[in-house]
Amino acid sequence: MYRNRKIFLVVGLLALICIIFNRCINSKAGNDPRGPLYAGSASCIGCHKDVAGSYAHTNHFKTSGKPVDSILEKNFNTAGHISYYTDGSMVTLEKTREYIYQVHLKNGNRLHAEKIDFAIGSGEKAQTYAYWKDGQLLQLPLTFFAGIRSWTNSPGYPTDQAFYDRVILSRCFECHASFVEKTDVQAGSLQLSEKLAEQTIVPGIDCERCHGAAAEHVAYQQKNPSVKEAKFITSIKSLTRKQQLDLCSTCHSGNDLDVQRTLFAFQPGDTLANYYFPHFGEGKPNPDVHGKQMQLLQQSKCFAGSQMTCGTCHNTHVAENDPKIFVAKCMSCHQSSKHAVQQQTAVKNCIDCHMPLQASKALDFNNGKERKRIPYLLRTHRIGVYLESVK
Ligand code: HEC
Ligand code: HEC
Ligand code: HEC
Ligand code: HEC
Ligand code: HEC
Ligand code: HEC
Ligand code: HEC
Repeated sequence: MYRNRKIFLVVGLLALICIIFNRCINSKAGNDPRGPLYAGSASCIGCHKDVAGSYAHTNHFKTSGKPVDSILEKNFNTAGHISYYTDGSMVTLEKTREYIYQVHLKNGNRLHAEKIDFAIGSGEKAQTYAYWKDGQLLQLPLTFFAGIRSWTNSPGYPTDQAFYDRVILSRCFECHASFVEKTDVQAGSLQLSEKLAEQTIVPGIDCERCHGAAAEHVAYQQKNPSVKEAKFITSIKSLTRKQQLDLCSTCHSGNDLDVQRTLFAFQPGDTLANYYFPHFGEGKPNPDVHGKQMQLLQQSKCFAGSQMTCGTCHNTHVAENDPKIFVAKCMSCHQSSKHAVQQQTAVKNCIDCHMPLQASKALDFNNGKERKRIPYLLRTHRIGVYLESVK
């Protein structure tokens, strides 16, 4: 009995030391790959438990990182995972005890096999994969596509043969992660490419990606626990409408803009036009539904006639899994429309008719040999009347 208690105490003490030690590491300035101004998300948990707890379930948070074994396992077991090519070869998945490989086979011969090292995309709609080779992340041929619950040939990849060579550049990380350090390297006589420093990756979109560098805030609030108001952190609510929109637009105004300086440096309150080259935001007539939520919303009467921001409808701290929650958001402005009041309780949702799903023209998937185009469907953010969706 006494012995047990002693063991219990020792184990307890060890656990406590581990926890304290871990805290110290996590909140020690200078430990974050982004530099001493950043504290790292782990250091926010202690004081912002509710936000941190719910944020961990969002697709922003899960949008990149080492693949989660349980999700890979599930997609491996439940979804078709062979892609055929017109040269008679195929790519399939193969599981060993530790890893899942993407294997290229022709006439029973193994031509190429690479393991899944890194995942991009939460998998809500799609998840694509890459492997490390000489400091570069190269995209694998098979992507998981939730729309058809199947693995398909990666978007943009040719259908005549399996491809393992597209370099994932830091540009993907600027929207799908919080940081990676890159160095430019020569990839041919004229071409430039990049190497990425694996140990500097801050995966997912973390608190400081939106809220900006917060080490000073953490240090101050830790030293002054009796102070209940925030210091050394930008209040997003009190930014101008344009500044709030610019924050979301860093990643939601498309990836065809030329970058002037790295988007990792963007802090809330900054002007986005200083990061992209001039043609930013100029209203092309038909912005693609993929990634251009900002341009589409700008073309809506709702946007033009109100002070609407993305935050009018979205709370980025929580996973918004139920499209019904948006009816209340529409009604916060449309109480005076008789039609809208009637439609509130209809089976068809406001957004089914006014923000219908549309196929991206910029991005689609193909299933290899059959070359069948598989549409990538997204909500248009140009809120309006779409007669074809009324049926
Ligand atoms: C030692 C406690 C503590 C830590 C650690 C901490 N905060 Fe805070 N934070 C506060 C307090 C206190 C407030 C003011 C009350 C509130 O809004 O919750 C605050 C407020 C905020 C606000 C709202 C600011 C405003 O005026 O709207 C943001 C954003 C914020 N913190 C972000 C962070 C981030 C990001 C981290 C981690 C890098 C972090 N905090 C770590 C104590 C802390
Ligand atoms: C995708 C961008 C984004 C990320 C990531 C994010 N936030 Fe926020 N956060 C916002 C916005 C936008 C607001 C302002 C909401 C409003 O207008 O009321 C906000 C407000 C806050 C506030 C103040 C009021 C409130 O809603 O509680 C705190 C505190 C806060 N965030 C903490 C955090 C912490 C901690 C994390 C990481 C676990 C985090 N945020 C991640 C965008 C983000
Ligand atoms: C650093 C880049 C970045 C910033 C900043 C950012 N987002 Fe995102 N957002 C993404 C990416 C990438 C995805 C796709 C996540 C996935 O499913 O893999 C996404 C997805 C979303 C989604 C869909 C979530 C879901 O459940 O599928 C919404 C809504 C959204 N963002 C709104 C916002 C709003 C509002 C802001 C500003 C407060 C914002 N985002 C800021 C990159 C960003
Ligand atoms: C300018 C920002 C931006 C860049 C650059 C970018 N993406 Fe995205 N990506 C997004 C946004 C926003 C979404 C989610 C909504 C949408 O499709 O409009 C998304 C969605 C995705 C998804 C589906 C995630 C899901 O389940 O919803 C995958 C996979 C993906 N991107 C991979 C990549 C890869 C690989 C690269 C680099 C070749 C890349 N993206 C570059 C912004 C970006
Ligand atoms: C912040 C306030 C606000 C919110 C929230 C809002 N709207 Fe609007 N909406 C407006 C304003 C203002 C107009 C323009 C009214 C006018 O010009 O008479 C408008 C116009 C419209 C129109 C007419 C568009 C056209 O092209 O004729 C539709 C349809 C509409 N809204 C649907 C919606 C739906 C659906 C939602 C929810 C997803 C929504 N609105 C959310 C403010 C809002
Ligand atoms: C009037 C309400 C409203 C506003 C304002 C709004 N959204 Fe959305 N958003 C929606 C609805 C509704 C959906 C679909 C949700 C669903 O299907 O579960 C959505 C979905 C998304 C998605 C997921 C992609 C998809 O097609 O499913 C992203 C990303 C997103 N919004 C980003 C933004 C950004 C960035 C802004 C600001 C530029 C913004 N939204 C402003 C209502 C809005
Ligand atoms: C079955 C499809 C459908 C649904 C569901 C629907 N609408 Fe509409 N809505 C329409 C059509 C079609 C029009 C244009 C014809 C008209 O003016 O009646 C319209 C017009 C509007 C207008 C502009 C005219 C006006 O009455 O002010 C607004 C605002 C609007 N809808 C909001 C909403 C909101 C909010 C919801 C959800 C509560 C909703 N609608 C649900 C099809 C729909």
